[in-house]
Amino acid sequence: QKGGYDTFMQKEMHEQPYVIKETLRAHIENNLAMPELSGLDVSKINQIYFVACGTAYHASLYAQYLLRTWIDLPIYCISASEFRYGNYRIDENTLCIFVSQSGETADTLAALKLSKENKAQTLAVTNVLGSSLARLSDFVLYTCAGPEIAVASTKAYTTQLVLLACLCLKLAALCNGDVENKYNMINQLKQMPEVVEEMLQQEDKMAEFAKLLTNQKDAYFIGRQLDYLSVLEGALKLKEVSYVHADAYMAGELKHGPIALIEKDTVVIALATQPSVAQKTISNILETVARGAKVILITSKNQNAEGFDYVIRIPDVDPLFSCIPATVLLQELAYYVAKEKGCDVDKPRNLAKSVTVE
Ligand code: M6R
Repeated sequence: QKGGYDTFMQKEMHEQPYVIKETLRAHIENNLAMPELSGLDVSKINQIYFVACGTAYHASLYAQYLLRTWIDLPIYCISASEFRYGNYRIDENTLCIFVSQSGETADTLAALKLSKENKAQTLAVTNVLGSSLARLSDFVLYTCAGPEIAVASTKAYTTQLVLLACLCLKLAALCNGDVENKYNMINQLKQMPEVVEEMLQQEDKMAEFAKLLTNQKDAYFIGRQLDYLSVLEGALKLKEVSYVHADAYMAGELKHGPIALIEKDTVVIALATQPSVAQKTISNILETVARGAKVILITSKNQNAEGFDYVIRIPDVDPLFSCIPATVLLQELAYYVAKEKGCDVDKPRNLAKSVTVE
């Protein structure tokens, strides 16, 4: 059942090139992003909400970032557990997009019901055919991740990222958005299976870096812009499978408080893959180095990383997609810390695969 791998989590990480390819095959046609949305009344939409929990919430933050870059409408991303109680102004001119691997998460379903009561158009992005979310939403798009057994989401997340990228390209086209180099974007997405494969081949290096964290109680993840969204997911993954307390910070926020926690040998995992802000992140990292931190740096091919001991580089991809290879590296890091500590990687304590109670 585990296909020769030690754990389901490892198997599922290694399935990513294949399931990403399948997801792209389902949603790209003739070099156009083609998620099926017939019947959606785009002319009515004056705001878009993404609503989800956990890892699916992180995927939704990515979609929010893309749409905010490409279209001129207010785009929100709210955790489903907050959405119900937050007095959001949902009406018939709102498109609510719910993202959920299982399609059964109680908070996400409750948010969907509330949106329907308020007459919003509703769209589900899910991995499970016929799930409650799929049945109750006006429109459904499926990721093609196949069954995900490990509690920690890996392949469901990266398939959500690529499907949401396709969806955002399509919404941008429908809303007369401004996407620079649209065809190049599609071509880049099509290369993601190979890019992810390349990252999986870096497994040994991440396993080596993971040793830095085995005896740590805390870890700090930092990044800016899209890198911040990736570190949120990286920190969640590390917490849930290895029980190392992990916090993710916007790199620029460090000096507003968290830097007080950095001391000799604290481990900082830094992402600097966004050319427009990478140098600023590097300056923030140097501030942690000056206080004795050990830094694992994930960065792009051309970034100068002189002076850093633990550096790993992602392939050349459009910065809007670098979160996909970066995420795979962060999954590997979390996985090997957990393995090294002897944790039950597939069934972390206190967690359920699908959270069907509030
Ligand atoms: O099935 P869902 O995508 O709705 O689940 C949402 C979260 O419970 C889930 O992503 C959780 O955070 C994972 N354990 C993360 O690895």
